[in-house]
Amino acid sequence: MRVSHAPVYRRRRRVVLAVLVAIVGLGLGYGTGALVWPRAEAEAAVTPAKSPTPTETPEASSTPTPSATPASSPSASPTPSPSPTFDLTAYSLTDPDSPWVIVNKLNPIDPAEYAPEDLTRIAGMSSAATMRAEAAAAMSALHEAAVAAGAPFTVSTAYRDHATQSSLYYGYVNRSGQASADRYSARPGFSEHQTGLAADIHNGVCDLKACFGTTAAGRYVAEHAWEHGFVIRYPEGKQEVTGYIYEPWHLRYVGVELATALHESDVTTLEELFGLPAAPDYS
Ligand code: DAL
Ligand code: ZN
Repeated sequence: MRVSHAPVYRRRRRVVLAVLVAIVGLGLGYGTGALVWPRAEAEAAVTPAKSPTPTETPEASSTPTPSATPASSPSASPTPSPSPTFDLTAYSLTDPDSPWVIVNKLNPIDPAEYAPEDLTRIAGMSSAATMRAEAAAAMSALHEAAVAAGAPFTVSTAYRDHATQSSLYYGYVNRSGQASADRYSARPGFSEHQTGLAADIHNGVCDLKACFGTTAAGRYVAEHAWEHGFVIRYPEGKQEVTGYIYEPWHLRYVGVELATALHESDVTTLEELFGLPAAPDYS
């Protein structure tokens, strides 16, 4: 005799349906809580991260420790839009120990006889030039990357003390007059080289000439120096802002965070990035 299981199946279907209705009801009941949380998390994941705040104050540490050095491969480069939360006040612009110190014709080094305490030779380079420790390490890394890319260069001069800058500047003045010298040489007390954060590079072609920018090394640093925390401090066409003619060989260390911000911005000078007055002349 066949036993019909139909009522049992119908009961089971009703039970299953009831359970499903209960689950849907519960889902709606919890409503937004159950749905919003993962969405909020997803939004948080795509919201531009706040620029890493330096973990140490400028007083405690004179140079920023980049939290991550961008890889040099194009695919790993940051997206080309400045972080809206980048903190332009993270470091002092006037303390000569600050990695962001602005030195130009309106902003002399204070004190005038300032000398860094952590001058270091640049590893992997025969040059006797010295820079502040973190800048020297970054220059060493930039140099290594440039050599690997077939764009070798050497640092000709980096840190210069007040007396050296003085003899250099007045040598130019004697040779070609003050007006001319002021276009390419800083007066003593007004040179970034005295901070230990600037370096002049050369490769035997177009040394200290604008055409250096068209050499392999010139093009390499124009494109990649920011990845190591350097900026081309005196870009082409910005003499009215920086006070100096185009110097594609003069690199200034500011740390990866700021160099990246400048690279991603639509301006090319530190004065413009920080909204500082243009410094075409001494006051
Ligand atoms: N050539 C740059 C401006 C200096 O003398 O510091
Ligand atoms: Zn220089």
